Amino acid sequence: MKLEIGREFPSHFQPAYPEEFELFSHFETTAGIPQVLFAITTWKENGKPNVCFHSWACFHGDKTAFFAVMGNLYQHTHTYQNLQREPCFCLNFLPLSYYDRLSDTIRHNSLEEDEFLAGGFTLENAKTVSAPVIGESFLTMECTLKQQMDLSGAGITAMVIGQVEHMSVEEAYARDRLKQYGRDGYMLLVPAPQDLVSGKPGQSGIAIADIQKWD
Ligand SMILES: Cc1cc2nc3c(=O)[nH]c(=O)nc-3n(C[C@H](O)[C@H](O)[C@H](O)COP(=O)(O)O)c2cc1C
Repeated sequence: MKLEIGREFPSHFQPAYPEEFELFSHFETTAGIPQVLFAITTWKENGKPNVCFHSWACFHGDKTAFFAVMGNLYQHTHTYQNLQREPCFCLNFLPLSYYDRLSDTIRHNSLEEDEFLAGGFTLENAKTVSAPVIGESFLTMECTLKQQMDLSGAGITAMVIGQVEHMSVEEAYARDRLKQYGRDGYMLLVPAPQDLVSGKPGQSGIAIADIQKWD
């Protein structure tokens, strides 16, 4: 037997906090799909560095180009506004041990804040675009803005597509390719899996990749 969930909000779904389903679709907590967590870095209009913790994304291309598709960037974020002014950005991949420091950049989010200082990050400059880079990242992607689209049309979020111009990989991770999986590697967000039977809310989890099979 399967439980069927449609576009109409399931009346038995309880939010984990009052505004949960103002911010997120109930399909998000129905599926609870793990997605890689990373930080988008840009320059604010006053020249201070900006950090945006981000999870909704995928990465792919063909032989001519490679893209970072950030499926859902809130339009109210500084990052979205920065991209309208300067169409380039960096994506910074850090391990689980940086979760709290990345969260600190959300708590210190005003225009006047240096968000690298807030997170205790080392500021470096990207090599091919005008954007700051988090020195502690094991992988950085430098991107130019290729396209953006408000998928729902509600003026709340936007799908932002970056064309990857350059990647920088920390040497220890280049020498040991398995280092980017497990505790030192990619961190994943498991978005609050709902109890689909009782409707009770779930908590979000932070996960790591655990390779089970090679092909
Ligand atoms: C685990 C986690 C994942 C997040 N993922 C996203 C995301 O995918 N898209 C988004 O717009 N905001 C996301 N956020 C919220 C932003 O990080 C937050 O709004 C941030 O303050 C925006 O920064 P900015 O205004 O400096 O750009 C996430 C927050 C957390 C804690």
